[in-house]
Amino acid sequence: MIQTDREETTATVAGAWEPQVIAFCCNFCAYAAADLAGAKRMQYPVNVRIILTPCTGKIEMEHILDAFEKGIDGILVAGCLEGGCHFIEGNLRARKRTDRIREMLDEIGVGSKRLKMVNFSAAEAPAFVRHVTEIVETVRALGPNPLKKSSQKESAVEA
Ligand code: FES
Repeated sequence: MIQTDREETTATVAGAWEPQVIAFCCNFCAYAAADLAGAKRMQYPVNVRIILTPCTGKIEMEHILDAFEKGIDGILVAGCLEGGCHFIEGNLRARKRTDRIREMLDEIGVGSKRLKMVNFSAAEAPAFVRHVTEIVETVRALGPNPLKKSSQKESAVEA
């Protein structure tokens, strides 16, 4: 069973910045692999929040851009192997979308490395652990999302 009530991983732990990462996981592969990782008690960073999606093809550009706009530091899109999508071409559409968004992230100075799409099967719990660990470490090296400060300022003004 996946731990969805993980300890709050907001911006600071003992005063130090900690990356906040979302993993959009397809129900049929990535989420099952995450579930298996949990059942096997495999360790992965607590910075990752898993969002279950029926298929990566159901993740719209707005979902990803909105999360970055709100200050999330990194996003992993994890779906079925190519040719294995239960909605036939959902993961192929997701790949095109993430590639386009990665270009946009470079254009606006956020950086394409903060978004990654990966494909693996339901049995690949180690792949899930490896990919989430990699994106957390990549984002940690990049530092906080540059949009975070402006989104926090806007929130303060609205309050
Ligand atoms: Fe898994 Fe489409 S059903 S990516």
